Amino acid sequence: SQPASFDFVIVGATGDLTMRKLLPAFYERFRLKQIAADSKIIGVARSDLSTETYRQRAEAALKEFATSAPQDEKAVREFLELVHYVSLDASNTAADWSPLETLLATYAARVRVFYVATAPKLYVATADAIADHSLITDVTRIVLEKPIGTDLASAKAINDGVGRHFNEEQIFRIDHYLGKQTVQNILALRFANPILERVWNADSIAHVQITAAETVGVGKRGPYYDTAGALRDMVQNHLLQVLSLVAMEPPTALSAMDLRDEKLKILRALKPMDTEAIACDTVRAQYTAGEIDGKAVDGYLTDLGADMSNTETFLAIRAEVRTTRWAGVPFYLRTGKRMAHKETEVVIEFRPQPWAIFVDSPEPSRLVLRIQPDEGMSLSLSGKDPLAEGFRLREASLDVSYIKAFGTRYPDSYEDLLMAVVRGDQVLFIRRDEVQASWCWIEPILNGWAENARPMETYPAGSRGPASSDNLLRDDGFVWKEKA
Ligand code: BG6
Repeated sequence: SQPASFDFVIVGATGDLTMRKLLPAFYERFRLKQIAADSKIIGVARSDLSTETYRQRAEAALKEFATSAPQDEKAVREFLELVHYVSLDASNTAADWSPLETLLATYAARVRVFYVATAPKLYVATADAIADHSLITDVTRIVLEKPIGTDLASAKAINDGVGRHFNEEQIFRIDHYLGKQTVQNILALRFANPILERVWNADSIAHVQITAAETVGVGKRGPYYDTAGALRDMVQNHLLQVLSLVAMEPPTALSAMDLRDEKLKILRALKPMDTEAIACDTVRAQYTAGEIDGKAVDGYLTDLGADMSNTETFLAIRAEVRTTRWAGVPFYLRTGKRMAHKETEVVIEFRPQPWAIFVDSPEPSRLVLRIQPDEGMSLSLSGKDPLAEGFRLREASLDVSYIKAFGTRYPDSYEDLLMAVVRGDQVLFIRRDEVQASWCWIEPILNGWAENARPMETYPAGSRGPASSDNLLRDDGFVWKEKA
């Protein structure tokens, strides 16, 4: 059903995220008649632009990034009517806020959202300025993009600073992985299918792999990325969120409180990494020049335009979740830029048959949850090879493509998340204690790496990362699942 109309202010409205993700996501939901036509989407940024010019930029962005094709010209025109622009440095209380105040005054009582898509160091000043201008009503919400801080102390400072003006129910910390249908689907698979949940434990599962491999390099984001690295950019948020959904106990209900309570328990149950664990159970590396899909690509230092950098663009970590359900089951995390393929997936490998009656030892069954691309899942099983002499085994796979099964387009992750903010539903957003618990686990690794407890390696662009990432699993008798 169509929600009541709203005012949605995007701070950082000329940035990449707004153009690539936020405006296209709103447009899609507008087309689906989920956004009332008297709503306002108000772009705020420092550039001196008119609403007219901003609408032209928005239109170009929709042409390029909207996921629905072909373009519906009429819907684009109608959607652009909702879009406004205000030139303002929103981290500065002393700037001229009156044009924004005027726009918001029209329907002062309706849902109001401030989406802060700027550098995290501006979050607190922006919240202060919004409060100074008395723009926070009972139905006002603030959305914070990741990264929330660069370590535990800075995350706390942001949470405290924003928390001075907004209570926790008004703060929506976004992690776009939770907006992915296939990530939400982990909950459906586990808790709607007892056949899976009954074997979802250390008795049946040998290990879990979570991989987020990308073919892209750092592109123009070098200045940000070089201060972050893969651990802060991908693991602190996205991969730990996926891990907690895979590992958590069933929540009592699918409510924001219950779900987040259970995720938090997992984040707290992660075994802290000491210096020895950092040396043995982590791998970090940086890409050098190489080739992807037959095209030569530069190394990280060239992309960055620097001679030296100690930032990892690849990592692999062996993590442990210290709960009764998962005792002794390694969780391997892996992510990298400039890898051979784009592939984000969770692999659940089941324990092997303890006593084999066949000539061949059966391969352990694997359940693969394909987050992207080619959203779907597969379960590999051993069957009787019909071609071989005698009774030989051969692997066969039950494979589901969600796009085929459900016959629908896969919406971009921001669509669900933006609409959830408007509805005021926090179930897909990160609570303060979750952010802090993830930093608690991440920070010792960052410190250990800074002290070189695990030296940096390199890997050629287009490869699977350094060989030591394979050794991490081989020591436990496992191998990474690679694209067939
Ligand atoms: C972002 C990171 O949060 O996630 C990027 O900052 C990364 O570096 C991106 O490329 C990956 O998202 P997705 O949805 O393509 O897996």
